[in-house]
Amino acid sequence: MEKMAQMYEGKAKKVFATNDENYCIVSYKDDATAFNGLKKGTIAGKGVVNNKMSNYLMQQLEKIGIPTHYVEELNDRETVVKKVSIVPLEVIVRNIAAGSFSKRFGVEEGRVLLCPTLEYCYKDDELGDPMVNDYHIIACGWATKEELDTISDYTFKINAFLKDFFKKINIDLVDFKIEFGKTKDGQIILADEISPDTCRFWDATTHEKLDKDRFRRDLGGVEEAYTEMMNRIFGGNE
Ligand code: TMP
Repeated sequence: MEKMAQMYEGKAKKVFATNDENYCIVSYKDDATAFNGLKKGTIAGKGVVNNKMSNYLMQQLEKIGIPTHYVEELNDRETVVKKVSIVPLEVIVRNIAAGSFSKRFGVEEGRVLLCPTLEYCYKDDELGDPMVNDYHIIACGWATKEELDTISDYTFKINAFLKDFFKKINIDLVDFKIEFGKTKDGQIILADEISPDTCRFWDATTHEKLDKDRFRRDLGGVEEAYTEMMNRIFGGNE
């Protein structure tokens, strides 16, 4: 596959066209932003961790029947993915109260929720990614009822798998955000990434934060947290 012109540059990734219209190449950057781009920084090596972790998890998810955009890892930072149009929703699952959930509802960080919760935010930086419900999504045409059913079904399966996977490496999966895309033939597939940028990972014993909250909240040890997650997943073999 040949890398062609850059199609898009986001906050954490660049996307390139290829010589096959059905595929793109994503390139993971070390750039980090928070609070809708207000806070900017660099996390050395983050692009490598996010690329490898995301690719590994997507391959595992394929095995349990979740279709994903993953095709082939080219190198430390670059991966061939299926070309999709992104469904403009951030799909957020929470197992433990934290972040904006705690703030919005006055529920202390760390309270284990009685069941996993699902939230949707409409992806629009200018609007600050407002939370929306199923009716808003269907009424505005961001996804159909059938697509949303598929998205929520996949999302709960993904949560069950990931929660169990991370528990085995002594990590509590607090919450995460995923995105879905639609292929040319209308199939809904998991896209974007699953990484310490997009998940909250707490050590199950010490509750130490091992994710991007270390950057968002100026906790220090940011690179070390990403490396620790990499080591727990790959056992130091990557
Ligand atoms: P929140 O508590 O700030 O709403 O975040 C919920 C989860 O979503 C958390 O795991 C971090 C992730 N997230 C993103 O991936 N991108 C974002 O822009 C935001 C705000 C959160």
